[in-house]
Amino acid sequence: MKALILAGGRGTRLRPLTHTTAKQLIPVANKPIICFVLEQICAAGIKDIGIIISPETGESIKKVVGDGSRWEAKVTYIFQEEPGGLAHAVKTARDFLEDSPFLMFLGDNLIQGGIEELVSEFKGGNCDAIIQLKKVKDPRQFGVAVLGPDNQVLQLVEKPKEPPSDLALVGIYLFSPAVHAAIERIKPSWRGELEITDAIQQMVSSGGRVQARTLEGWWMDTGKKDDILEANRVVLDEYACYEVNGQVDETSQVGWAG
Ligand code: TTP
Repeated sequence: MKALILAGGRGTRLRPLTHTTAKQLIPVANKPIICFVLEQICAAGIKDIGIIISPETGESIKKVVGDGSRWEAKVTYIFQEEPGGLAHAVKTARDFLEDSPFLMFLGDNLIQGGIEELVSEFKGGNCDAIIQLKKVKDPRQFGVAVLGPDNQVLQLVEKPKEPPSDLALVGIYLFSPAVHAAIERIKPSWRGELEITDAIQQMVSSGGRVQARTLEGWWMDTGKKDDILEANRVVLDEYACYEVNGQVDETSQVGWAG
């Protein structure tokens, strides 16, 4: 099994931060987001990792990640000339992916609890794809899924004005090589991109087995400023420890400012 991290794109929603750095390199709790992604992928036992990079920020990503030996992984860089969409990135990585099943992880997403369970369920089953979902308050800015019995995906809609459910697509997907044929059949969307949601919908419509898992823990799409701030708070809450050396009286509290 291989993994593909998407670390290209323009990052327009995070300007001005992304005028000077790649959004996948913005630190959360003092560690670049892409390093959390690499840790989670390696913890799930996947060590053959391709990283999609762009002409603008590719070199800075390479500088931080290197050859992957820090995570005992092998990293291959794949150059995407233009941010043509998530499905375009998969198409660009075709030579690296060959006919291997793979995990796709958006390089600016953070989730709680890692992906070990998701990966082992995919390995143990016979699905064409598994997508990760999360219940959100306002799904209009995300890809949204409609599920049938047994977590089967019936329909996917990209940024719907009237969302058919509250289940948003998190940037983590597992694919069998069947996804490549589906990508060949889709056309660019109204925003001129090859959308991964269209490719997955194509798999569903042609009778493919596409399953969903719903994430209980937190999910941060750090492509937006408020999410970056929230990610810092949540990650620090989870990982940072402190020691109390002394007496705390009844009227005082020791903790992190929320
Ligand atoms: P997006 O947030 O969908 O796109 P973007 O990075 O261009 O950001 P913005 O909308 O603010 O301009 O991308 C999600 C992740 O996928 C992110 O890590 C960048 C990466 N990506 C690619 O690697 N190639 C692409 O063609 C696109 C669209 C995104």
